[in-house]
Amino acid sequence: MQTRTLGTTGPQVSALGLGCMGMSGMYGDADRAESIATIHAALDAGITLLDTGDFYGMGHNELLINEALRTAPAALREQALTSVKFGALRDPAGGWRGNDGRPEAVGNFLAYSLQRLGTDHIDIYRIARVDPAVPIEETVGAIAEAVQAGYVRHIGLSEAGPETIRRAAATAPIVDLQIEYSLLDRAIEDEILPVCGDLGIGITAYGVLSRGLISGHWSRDRKAAADDFRAYSPRFSGDNLDRNLALVDALREVADGKGVSVAQTAIAWVLAQNARQPAAIVPLVGARRRDRLAESLGALEVTLDADDLAAIEEAVPAGAAAGTRYPEEQMTHLDSEK
Ligand SMILES: NC(=O)c1ccc[n+]([C@@H]2O[C@H](COP(=O)([O-])OP(=O)(O)OC[C@H]3O[C@@H](n4cnc5c(N)ncnc54)[C@H](OP(=O)(O)O)[C@@H]3O)[C@@H](O)[C@H]2O)c1
Repeated sequence: MQTRTLGTTGPQVSALGLGCMGMSGMYGDADRAESIATIHAALDAGITLLDTGDFYGMGHNELLINEALRTAPAALREQALTSVKFGALRDPAGGWRGNDGRPEAVGNFLAYSLQRLGTDHIDIYRIARVDPAVPIEETVGAIAEAVQAGYVRHIGLSEAGPETIRRAAATAPIVDLQIEYSLLDRAIEDEILPVCGDLGIGITAYGVLSRGLISGHWSRDRKAAADDFRAYSPRFSGDNLDRNLALVDALREVADGKGVSVAQTAIAWVLAQNARQPAAIVPLVGARRRDRLAESLGALEVTLDADDLAAIEEAVPAGAAAGTRYPEEQMTHLDSEK
């Protein structure tokens, strides 16, 4: 497995990370045994970075990772690095109730995550959404104290905009920004990628398959369950879905021409962006089954030359996506979109 260094202060991680969110209900039901087998298969293939959030299934995802690591061979368990998001407030019905980045909340979230993960430290810790009521210096400062105390190794950001990134980096070393980046989501190329490049901050890219929309496995006939994010995502709805699937058809022609799958082409495109970014870009693939994971890993073997990249650009031009990447209300919580 190729590796990359996130940020100027590390850590070294596998070129692909595994995002575990979909194993805890965000995309409808997931099979627990298959989820754990997928984490084991990822570690076995050399993936070292496991991404989670304490609010994915209200702790379910961290407990799942705990079980997967406990039941993995010691050598694989020891190579695993945990990247944990905190701050999102939930309610008993599963609703979303804003974000809490107060320093006293950081310590509280951290205490519970350490317990659920069954570990004495978290490798990368970040607030999922910038809390507009708390200066980022205070939130990052609280994580920096946890680094001093040994409970956290590195500090990351999530969906932060350029000004917040600069202020955070002036407070403490930031190793990565986790943000949506895919053929359908390229807004970060204008300002956020250059800022991160200048400051030596890596990118852990999520939604590289646009939540399955550009995986080649989504179709008009596939219905998302009511509790699946995709049931209320603007990109998966009505005419937007037709327009986005037409982009996938165009991308499939490029993929077919190379003898690889649509998902592999989409992931390889994100990997290829490393060539023009000084700090590492590491796609987090959201596989929750071993067959999907195996397909994603195949992207590491795909080389895209200038002609391939031009053909992909023609198939899916920047800004071609129909619909916003989150529903309207959730868009307002994205510091990166302000
Ligand atoms: N910081 C943030 O705000 C934020 C937000 C969202 C996610 N994340 C993190 O990023 C990770 C990845 O995000 P994501 O799950 O939205 O990304 P994604 O990789 O774009 O989408 C994953 C979904 O795509 C489908 N898929 C189809 N073919 C696949 C393949 N070959 N490999 C993997 N998935 C395939 C799967 O759905 P089916 O299984 O239904 O086919 C899977 O659940 C999450 O797990 C989470 O850790 C962070």
